[in-house]
Amino acid sequence: MRSRQLLLAVLVTIFAILGSAVLVHAQDQITVGFAQTGSESGWRTAFTEAMIAEAESQNINLIFSDGQQKQENQIAALRSFIAQGVDAIILAPLVETGWDEVFQEAQDAGIPVFIIDRNVTADPSLYVTRIASDFVYEGRLAAAWLATATANREQCNIVELYGTVGSSAAIDRATGFAETIALFPNLELVASQSGDFTRTGGKEVMESFLNSLDPASICAVFGHNDDMLIGAIEAMKEAGIDPADDILTVSVDAIDDIFVSMMNGDANATVLLSPNMGVQAYAAIRSYLAGETLPALIPVPSAMYFQDTAAEEYAARTGG
Ligand code: AHR
Repeated sequence: MRSRQLLLAVLVTIFAILGSAVLVHAQDQITVGFAQTGSESGWRTAFTEAMIAEAESQNINLIFSDGQQKQENQIAALRSFIAQGVDAIILAPLVETGWDEVFQEAQDAGIPVFIIDRNVTADPSLYVTRIASDFVYEGRLAAAWLATATANREQCNIVELYGTVGSSAAIDRATGFAETIALFPNLELVASQSGDFTRTGGKEVMESFLNSLDPASICAVFGHNDDMLIGAIEAMKEAGIDPADDILTVSVDAIDDIFVSMMNGDANATVLLSPNMGVQAYAAIRSYLAGETLPALIPVPSAMYFQDTAAEEYAARTGG
């Protein structure tokens, strides 16, 4: 009897030790290299901040690199992460193409690569998964709103503030938008130009549209992101145009500043791109390192916001 009790006590102790060992393993500090595109937009800054804050809260040693909008900087960052022997790499790629070679180097070194946000054309066997929202869907949402807002107009000429050339965020948003407006005979895309996802770029592009086209003929502007649209709002105001009334606006990101524009009556609608993808990214890395198989895509949901709820949403975000 005493020996059975002793055996039980030993077993309980062993399970307790094993249990705590597993727990410690799950919370082990890991080192992750994160290669960011740059800081071209308010959304990008919010995304970087969220990634860093989430890493801190999860005891992840995050090595951050700002690519300053240059792919060669991002490739150099990946090579540096490989040389440092990080546990995993997260890449927010600037453009779609040109990653195969460095991904192969990471794979050869046994370091898993995770894609976040924009897509890549590299062979999927070279990276683990992608954590991202659906950019085509975002373009469709923007176009669907515009179709509703212009249902009683015979003709609506649209100008597009295109994002960074070669980035999947721009390619896919343009695709989703174009295929949806094609369903509505009154909607026509009359001009499209890259503002590189920046506020100054958006302003310059809108100025050139207002110079090259008859401003009175422009019915709406679609911004691939809020920052370019905010720049375009400045350009419209300087030209004596009332944005959101004379020219309808729709853009993507749902950054805090676009809510201020909507509250001021200068913007009509925005599509949400969540910057809070760190939770899913780090969970994916931990799962992979624990031996789990992951799906090819970990989707991040989207939504839309309009003028009528802008003040409420802004207050909820800023605690005001
Ligand atoms: O890749 C996502 C896009 O990149 C965001 O919509 C834009 O603001 C950023 O520059």
